Amino acid sequence: MSSSDGIGRLRAIERQFDRDRISVADLKSLEDIRTRYLSRKAGLLTLELQNLGKLPKDQRADFGRVANEVKLKIEASLDTLQATIAEREKQTALGREALDVTLPGNRRRVGHRHPLTIIRNEIEDIFVSMGYTVEDGPEVESTYYNFDALNFPAGHPARDPRDTFYVSEHMILRTHTSPVQVRTMEKIQPPVRIICPGRVFRRDAFDPTHSPMFHQVECLVVDEGITFADLKGTLERFHKRFFGEKTKTRLRPSFFPFVEPGAEVDVSCVFCDGSGCRVCKGTGWIEVMGAGMVHPNLYQFVNYDADKYTGFAFGGGIDRYTALKYNINDLQLFFQNDIRFLGQFA
Ligand code: PHE
Repeated sequence: MSSSDGIGRLRAIERQFDRDRISVADLKSLEDIRTRYLSRKAGLLTLELQNLGKLPKDQRADFGRVANEVKLKIEASLDTLQATIAEREKQTALGREALDVTLPGNRRRVGHRHPLTIIRNEIEDIFVSMGYTVEDGPEVESTYYNFDALNFPAGHPARDPRDTFYVSEHMILRTHTSPVQVRTMEKIQPPVRIICPGRVFRRDAFDPTHSPMFHQVECLVVDEGITFADLKGTLERFHKRFFGEKTKTRLRPSFFPFVEPGAEVDVSCVFCDGSGCRVCKGTGWIEVMGAGMVHPNLYQFVNYDADKYTGFAFGGGIDRYTALKYNINDLQLFFQNDIRFLGQFA
């Protein structure tokens, strides 16, 4: 066997490698081709090198030089290929895992406050900032606190079971938050300056302006020298804070057994600023509260000195304030839990 035959075969292997490597597409086929040419046992080049010993001594150097050259070339070529393929596979993987930050995300629905709660908090904030504290009272109430101690005479129509939910003979679901006036005065001596928001119940059927359960906020102030002017001033301040500075407040004579004198409280229409519209039925005014000076009879029930102290009280519907603030024309929406409605207050 002559060295030129051997060198010829080495060159043939080299050319074949050049063709084969074109089809190498991934790390797997790269390993295959490496094994095919360079494997220590059966690589094409390895096998050829085994012929070295059969050559005449003077030809061995040439053959060896070329064999080494081909081997280095194949190795270098495989290394380059390996680097290229590894980089390409890395890029593909990155592309697969890439985040498109412009895609719309999956919005998580989070809970939020009910509109009535938002408004109750707002009302509480206004009064707390004026130095009031917030009181609480039971929803299942005795007829004593709901009626008797509030100066309702026996046989008053509000006591009728057709208007009031009776739990037992002397226990009812409170029909207003006013019983908290009595409970507070039993607890603390003047000066008293409290509000009490809460649920109240009346036997009304559901319609856009009625609900068997609704919400009121009660206010009670008792101290030396409290006058009707304090009542009016407090109502004005509250309504300006709540509805805006141009809001006017007016009082009309009215009757509630637990106040004297008593009044109904109107605010200038928040929709037409008092010029007259559908909501205020052309009057320019909207009724929002009952109010008055605490009736002296109440002081006997709670052992207050009626000669020393005077006070005012008022109570309004939180549902109504919320409806006016958000321009809602159906109270039933507050209690149906329709997420399409509630979602607008987030
Ligand atoms: N409690 C009365 C009502 O339910 C409102 C009111 C409260 C009136 C306080 C006067 C004083 O209508």
